[in-house]
Amino acid sequence: MENKTAVKHKKRLIVGISGASGAILGINILELLKENPEWETHLIISRNAKATIEEETSYTIDQVISLADAAYDADNISAGPASGTFKAEGMIIAPCSMKTAAGIACGYADNLLLRAADVTLKEARRLVIVPRESPLSVIHLRNLLTLAEAGAIVVPPMVSYYNKPLSIEDMNRHIIGKILDKFGIEVNDFRRWKGC
Ligand SMILES: Cc1cc2nc3c(=O)[nH]c(=O)nc-3n(C[C@H](O)[C@H](O)[C@H](O)COP(=O)(O)O)c2cc1C
Repeated sequence: MENKTAVKHKKRLIVGISGASGAILGINILELLKENPEWETHLIISRNAKATIEEETSYTIDQVISLADAAYDADNISAGPASGTFKAEGMIIAPCSMKTAAGIACGYADNLLLRAADVTLKEARRLVIVPRESPLSVIHLRNLLTLAEAGAIVVPPMVSYYNKPLSIEDMNRHIIGKILDKFGIEVNDFRRWKGC
């Protein structure tokens, strides 16, 4: 009998970080998935996100890139995630700027982040966007509605209170728990309502 070793492939998740406030959410997602043997992350950081990462966090761009299994330049429109043949369970954009939300809503795929999201929708894969802006204009709201109608799951980084957060880290963990829940990924210390 032939001795075959079964190769179990990891599930691929495309993680986009755009130039909205809250880059730490995308970074924390990469950190959590780095510890998860079932998942493989493919990172796209927009050009403008490089500014928010530097402005808001203590991470260098290289440190963020090193958290992912693979990373692509947002200008590299011929990278794997630009094609529907690239196998992936789906994509998370955290945080998602209003510009990126508008680009996806219009099908205006002029960088790899937008193209990968466009492909995720056209291939009927799961697209979770974490839009961050306040207040939201009618234009923002219309674009988010268009995305929800097209099948995206819109998970704004809204604070929950029932879990009694004591720190920004507690709040972020809860938001990330809700985001990763959409892919069936458990986050340690994510407090569900009444422990459900
Ligand atoms: C420090 C900083 C914070 C920003 N925060 C937001 C934000 O919360 N939401 C948003 O839509 N845009 C925000 N912007 C503006 C976006 O970076 C800008 O619209 C950019 O064109 C987005 O491009 P991208 O989606 O390709 O990353 C911020 C910019 C800077 C420099």
